[in-house]
Amino acid sequence: MTTRPRAMYSSTRRQGKLNDWEIYLRLLGYVVPYWYLFALSLLGYLVYSLGNVLLADTMQFLLDALNDTSDVANGIVSGVAYRLFYSPDMGRLEFARVAVPLAIVLLTLTRALGFFVGTYFMNHVARHLVHELRCELFDKMLVAPSAYYDAHSQGVLISKITFNVEQVTGAATKALKILVRESLTVVALFSYMLYLNWRLCLVFVAVAPLIALVVRVVGRHFRRYSRRIQASMGDVTQVSNETIGAYREVRIFGGQSQQRERFRHASDYNRVQSLKLAFADAVSTPVLQTLLALALAALVWFALSPDILAGFSAGSLVAFLIAAGQLGKPMRQLSGIQSVLQRGLAAAEDIFAQLDLEDEIDTGTHSASRVNGHIAIADLSFSYPGTDRVALRNLSLDIPAGSTLALVGRSGSGKSTLVQLIARFYRPDSGQILLDGVPIDDYRLANLRSHIALVSQEVTLFNDTVYNNIAYGALADVPRERIDEVARLACADVFIARLPNGIDTVLGDDGGGLSGGERQRVAIARAILKGAPVLILDEATSALDNESENYIQQALDNIMRQRTTIVIAHRLSTVEKADCIAVMDAGTIVAIGTHDELLQRGGIYAQLYHREFSD
Ligand SMILES: Nc1ncnc2c1ncn2[C@@H]1O[C@H](COP(=O)(O)OP(=O)(O)O)[C@@H](O)[C@H]1O
Ligand SMILES: [Mg+2]
Repeated sequence: MTTRPRAMYSSTRRQGKLNDWEIYLRLLGYVVPYWYLFALSLLGYLVYSLGNVLLADTMQFLLDALNDTSDVANGIVSGVAYRLFYSPDMGRLEFARVAVPLAIVLLTLTRALGFFVGTYFMNHVARHLVHELRCELFDKMLVAPSAYYDAHSQGVLISKITFNVEQVTGAATKALKILVRESLTVVALFSYMLYLNWRLCLVFVAVAPLIALVVRVVGRHFRRYSRRIQASMGDVTQVSNETIGAYREVRIFGGQSQQRERFRHASDYNRVQSLKLAFADAVSTPVLQTLLALALAALVWFALSPDILAGFSAGSLVAFLIAAGQLGKPMRQLSGIQSVLQRGLAAAEDIFAQLDLEDEIDTGTHSASRVNGHIAIADLSFSYPGTDRVALRNLSLDIPAGSTLALVGRSGSGKSTLVQLIARFYRPDSGQILLDGVPIDDYRLANLRSHIALVSQEVTLFNDTVYNNIAYGALADVPRERIDEVARLACADVFIARLPNGIDTVLGDDGGGLSGGERQRVAIARAILKGAPVLILDEATSALDNESENYIQQALDNIMRQRTTIVIAHRLSTVEKADCIAVMDAGTIVAIGTHDELLQRGGIYAQLYHREFSD
């Protein structure tokens, strides 16, 4: 892959405009289709939490049986056991000896089942959520306008799909599970404590606002650091990507220390922000634990006061204290997942911001099964988004159907820009382009592009066989002979025959192993195969030697005869025969005519021509 123009602005640092509730609701929207799995999971966790409470309650059963008091049947477990199974000829201790172990085993098994159901189905839901988010983000890249690619570096985009989605995964699987399970446990334990003695529970009500405050403050910090970590991961990926892609340049130009510096910088920023996050994380848990322990201490003090003790059996008191003690673990877990949760929310925020970006505009409704290929360009002006330099200025041009137009001009004069506008990769600021008399904006985007075959300046090949690279996309099911034929027309047959598996050789990453000229020939074969009425060749033969270029030129001449062709050529010798040559300079057409006319007229064309031939 070639590097694209660097970002005009780094939108990874721009924060999404969604507020927290919108993020939660939107995430919840992904869960809705799987509500029954979600409900099943909730049920499982509910069983798990109740199991926890009832196990605490069983201690009351045990203790009050040991003391042989009449309070023994007052608990939940003991109450049920006595009502259903107790017969008066049994001793209380004898009964408890069988009933308590049995209750422990049954409750533990039920709790285990609840845990399994809760965990497994919550994962089910979470994995769906992540999968859908990832696919939506990927699909977005398929419809994003070109400006999106201009504004983001490749590394940053890749890191959005890999790192950011992974952050949501963490939040959705681990954090969501803990959030649901432990919240239910807290609620269940607390309800049980209220049921045993509501006045004692007031101690917890007193510390609750403090706990909420800590959670809130820490959460806000987590989010801030998470955003920075995300952005820095984008930079880390970008620098790695660049260094891998340009490893030759890096070495030849001695850029190692520069690349190392940039990478160190990005990675170090990541380290510092992660450390800040870890600091907040490490502080928050002990603080919360201390708050809880203080509450627990106060609780014991109050619980052992004579008037409270009077209303309690020893068993109930112990059950109450056990339940209170058990609150510690879920509270700790809940505070522990804050960092994961906030990372996930920060990532979701960024993903949603991406998803909310506008697609390539596709509001046209016109469809033609085949066009003649008459292109009329009227008063076209264009600047690349985010720049104020004019790339095309009041450009008008008429290309009759079936004719060949050559665009020539110095590099940077706007030739590639013009053909990109014809394929609607960008929209003009003013003026319009007509294809067969219909503004190209009125075509459905896919239909418009089906009429155009483009070989661009930078050939991109896919990590697949030569065969599949030629028969790429909508062309996938053409007969094999046709592929061989177009390979021959593009003069690619000779080098293909030399590949280890011929046309079925898998090309590496971006056509690795092929020379520039060979890659261009594969791209030309692809374009010939498409057989579209409009053929655009943007310096498509620039990497070929003179001989191959002449040879391809003959093949192309045949193909060009039946279609509208726009050729951008760096060698003027290849455009002499064009029906019409347009000379571009500074974004507009400065001269137009045949080769001979232009040569006679002097000007840029004559200059370029003579320079080429004096070399
Ligand atoms: N993606 C882009 N974003 C901003 N400016 C661009 C972009 N691509 C090209 N340009 C600018 O537009 C002008 C015309 O470029 P281009 O059409 O590629 O020239 P040519 O193909 O004639 O060499 C140049 O000044 C170039 O710097
Ligand atoms: Mg160009």
